[in-house]
Amino acid sequence: MSGFVSFVSSGPGDPDLLTRRAADRLARADVVLYDDLSSGPILALAAQAALIPVGKRAGRPSAKQEAVNALILEHARAGRRVVRLKSGDAGMFGRLEEELTAVRGAGIAFEIVPGVSSVNAAAAEAGLPLTRRLTARRVQYLTGADVTGKLPQDLNWAALADPHAVTVIFMGQRSFPDLAAGLIAHGLPADTPALIAEAITQPGQRLRRGTVAQLAEALRRDGPSTAPALIFYGPLAAISDAAVEVLAG
Ligand SMILES: C[S@@+](CC[C@H](N)C(=O)[O-])C[C@H]1O[C@@H](n2cnc3c(N)ncnc32)[C@H](O)[C@@H]1O
Repeated sequence: MSGFVSFVSSGPGDPDLLTRRAADRLARADVVLYDDLSSGPILALAAQAALIPVGKRAGRPSAKQEAVNALILEHARAGRRVVRLKSGDAGMFGRLEEELTAVRGAGIAFEIVPGVSSVNAAAAEAGLPLTRRLTARRVQYLTGADVTGKLPQDLNWAALADPHAVTVIFMGQRSFPDLAAGLIAHGLPADTPALIAEAITQPGQRLRRGTVAQLAEALRRDGPSTAPALIFYGPLAAISDAAVEVLAG
């Protein structure tokens, strides 16, 4: 008898941003396989479940994707209700495709429970609309780290330097100084507004704004923080929120 797999989006960290469906699946789970970024207070909602960390976090040892796939199948084949908990929205930069392929290939029933991405939560915490009627007509999401952890080499520089697009970079703290140099070389003004959003809705949340050049300099000088962070740049609306620090320089 096969169980059932729910790929559940945990949101950015604050349990208030879980959907009701996500909370329901956690409460009824037999086993929860969770990432580093979806640990914390949310796990308390899975009161009856075995909790298994399978986290992947830059710079630390992590479970191999094949091992995660195998664990999902093992528990589902034992007839359990499996929750595969993924941070933010499960479909954004979370290796959902590999896990779906494994579950589909094994003929196991599944669902995907959508959620609040860290992008949406960060924009909300900063008081920042992601689009602007006349100046920001496009939003694009980019990973700042390819499979080797470095800046992807096949970037579409014209799109990334588009002055009418807001760009959001996941996992981009390390590579942003190099990315910024490339953007400026491809015509993006160095004084384009930028924002870095760390540990959104988690203890230690920090928001800083400045220009692309200032943020690149700060990250080159200080290195990446250990907190998860998103970087926004483009024709961002002016932010006057007291919770947002201003980058020096
Ligand atoms: C593997 S990706 C998962 C993204 C997730 N699926 C989402 O929709 O937010 C992890 C990256 O998402 C971003 N991230 C996730 N949670 C975050 C948070 N609470 N605050 C800031 N950035 C976050 C960071 O760029 C982090 O390195």
